[in-house]
Amino acid sequence: MRRTLRFLLPLIGGLALLAVIGYVILTRTTAQWFEKDLELRSQLAVESARTSLERHWTEAGELELILGDITRDERIMGTAACAGDALVAATPAFPGSVTCAYIDAQLAVAASWTGTADLATGAVRVIARRIVDHDNKHLGALVLVHDVSFLARREATTRNFLLAAFFILALSAAVVTLLAARFAWRGWTRELRRALSGDAADPADDFRPLVSDVRTLVERLVGEREEGVRAGPWGPERLRTTLTEHLNGERIVILANREPYIHERDTDGKVVVLHPASGLVTALEPVMRACSGVWVAHGSGGADRDVVDDRSRIRVPPGEESYRLRRVWLTEREENGYYYGFSNEGLWPLCHVAHTRPLFRTEDWAEYVRVNQRFADAVCEEVDTDDPVILVQDYHFALAPKMIRAALPRATIITFWHIPWPNAERFGICPWREELLAGLLGSSIVGFHTQQHCNNFIDSVDAFMESRIDRETTAIVQGRHRTLVRPYPISIEWPLSKLDDVPATEDCRTAVRRELDLPADALLGVGIDRLDYTKGIEERLRAVDDLLGRYPEFRGRFTFAQLAAPSRTKIERYRDLNERIETLAAEINARWSSGTYRPIALLRAHHEPATVYRYYRAAELCYVSSLHDGMNLVAKEFVAARDDEQGVLVLSQFTGAARDLSEALIVNPYDLTQATDALAVALRMAPREQRERMRSMRRLIAEFNVYRWAGRMLVDAAGLRRRERLHGRFAAMRANA
Ligand code: G6P
Repeated sequence: MRRTLRFLLPLIGGLALLAVIGYVILTRTTAQWFEKDLELRSQLAVESARTSLERHWTEAGELELILGDITRDERIMGTAACAGDALVAATPAFPGSVTCAYIDAQLAVAASWTGTADLATGAVRVIARRIVDHDNKHLGALVLVHDVSFLARREATTRNFLLAAFFILALSAAVVTLLAARFAWRGWTRELRRALSGDAADPADDFRPLVSDVRTLVERLVGEREEGVRAGPWGPERLRTTLTEHLNGERIVILANREPYIHERDTDGKVVVLHPASGLVTALEPVMRACSGVWVAHGSGGADRDVVDDRSRIRVPPGEESYRLRRVWLTEREENGYYYGFSNEGLWPLCHVAHTRPLFRTEDWAEYVRVNQRFADAVCEEVDTDDPVILVQDYHFALAPKMIRAALPRATIITFWHIPWPNAERFGICPWREELLAGLLGSSIVGFHTQQHCNNFIDSVDAFMESRIDRETTAIVQGRHRTLVRPYPISIEWPLSKLDDVPATEDCRTAVRRELDLPADALLGVGIDRLDYTKGIEERLRAVDDLLGRYPEFRGRFTFAQLAAPSRTKIERYRDLNERIETLAAEINARWSSGTYRPIALLRAHHEPATVYRYYRAAELCYVSSLHDGMNLVAKEFVAARDDEQGVLVLSQFTGAARDLSEALIVNPYDLTQATDALAVALRMAPREQRERMRSMRRLIAEFNVYRWAGRMLVDAAGLRRRERLHGRFAAMRANA
């Protein structure tokens, strides 16, 4: 109603203004017409009577008759003939108040005069003219008095007419507007509703801009809501709420090759639980504990089969049992082809710039395809809705997203690639590049640690796939399916729950030095890795060697403890590395040993988290020297472990972590001199500077923890689902247009 009035009031105002202007113009014009008319009539009357007047001017009787004839005109009230200021003759109705003396005075300067006189009966118009004879002799004046009261009557009629017209028009306009507004509003609302609900095949042309505005607005609001969700601290509770609020889900399904808990038998035949050395597991296990659900993984432990139920399931973590682990069993042939072969001899070296050639074998590929399908089937068995949230992890499962999508078209599939993605030229050497890309594009979102890896992925799709790349939203569009490509730098749990059982820094310092047989004041560096050629362990040990060579002050004082978990040892390249590192460590130790002092402590074994965290806390520095690494969570774990705000992180520039942890000493591990100098700087760094750097890095990890990492992906996935619904409808409308 208010909207209608807002339209109606100006309309009525405009009409009123028009009526006033019309009234003024009309009255003025008609008055002029009537004046002119009177002039003409008077002139006509005088001219037609002029001859008679001249002839009979002096004969009063005749003159009266002539004046009587003139007043036959209905508008002429009375007529008089004056000679100078004396009245010669007059018709009976001629008003006595109009005197010849007055008329004579007016005609003293002109041959005719027109004026107005106010009588008791109303205003009259007086027109006087001089009468001259043929000899131009002035006879006197003829005075005509016109009744002009009709002019006022006409003016009143005009005014009334205009007023009535105005009211009728205003009323009609109001009624028409109200009706039109009501019908149009109903029509608009109906049309808009249909357009937004997707029922309208094609919105009317008039509505297209409106509908498009609404869509933009909705998207903006969704975006703002998502932004709101992103601000503030993240923890397990918030992640859980996000999952429920944004994706209507209470549980998620994670697909990852490595399982979070491995059951093995110790030498006494007792079942023990091991925590694998895997950045992926470090990051995702807390997410799973927060969200609950199912983790589908390869059951690789020697005692794994002994502890599961008849559907290969077991509740974990041991003692807490907040989520389910579903184990998938692989034959040796499957493991060799899918895991060792295609994943770790093909994709791993393909994606890491560590100068190791990838090996692509057709039989490995066949196993990779088969095993991806087996895992995809296992995932589908574990879901309990037709639109579950599934987190597919890493290069072992590039094909699974498409396979899962085929079975569960409404699923939200978030795939995270934990390792780098090479540039398109490099990726192009893979014989099954199209299949890998098509598999990944079954995802709702494909995530990488860095924008650079996203760009490389998009370039690869651009080079090898039929699809549209939406560079504005960084999405890949295939028909009606859209895959977002986004950077989500992974992180760790904060605060680290595993630190609860780790002794305080001082105790760790003492205990670790005792274990390594070092004096209490020994300087200690640590490196914690799987034995993998991408980690730059050889470069690291060489830097220690160089440090002792170029900085004699550290000889006999500095020891580097390398905790190295054997990894993928069936692969020759890994076995070689194992041997090379052992030889190198022995060489360096031989060079710099004195008495009981050994510069390198190579601890080649699987180490449980409690040991790892003790070493982080005991060390003066941690050197992460990866030649290429998606993120590297060892760097973040070291910072998280140092609640004493001491210790220095020396970090390779080729890790994703180097983008986040800029207060570390960032080095190029290939540049031995630079790396060695950084180790020396770290060992000499004042406690205050160590505190400042450590504090700043700790603040960053606390804020950007793994809950936020997972939360951002879930919120983006939810946004994508909403947008897809909207876009799908609009695309259908356009297609039908
Ligand atoms: C990397 C990979 C993970 C993998 C981990 C350990 O971090 O990105 O997917 O779990 O290495 O390797 P492994 O082969 O022992 O699982």
